[in-house]
Amino acid sequence: MGAERGNLQSPSVQNLLLAAHARGLGGVWVGSFDEEPVRALLDIPDDLRPVALVPVGYPAEHPLPRSRVPHEQMVKVLR
Ligand SMILES: Cc1cc2nc3c(=O)[nH]c(=O)nc-3n(C[C@H](O)[C@H](O)[C@H](O)COP(=O)(O)O)c2cc1C
Repeated sequence: MGAERGNLQSPSVQNLLLAAHARGLGGVWVGSFDEEPVRALLDIPDDLRPVALVPVGYPAEHPLPRSRVPHEQMVKVLR
């Protein structure tokens, strides 16, 4: 949860997912959800705003990593 602060939740969610993974857990970042039902379900106070949901659990499967676009095609280093 957080205030209207751009994408500052991104490093928090990333760290949460990495910490879960390091403990053998799986998680998924959900950024698209109806705020009001979530607010009511979790009894979130008015001064906080949910900006991400991160369901965490033990994975039923352990798939191999998917193929990725090579780093060189995705990043341009400017000197
Ligand atoms: C900022 C952000 C928000 C996301 N929001 C959603 C979402 O609302 N719903 C969803 O199905 N996936 C969402 N995703 C993608 C999932 O977290 C996940 O990466 C995607 O479903 C692919 O998962 P898979 O590679 O394990 O199949 C989001 C990813 C990011 C980075």
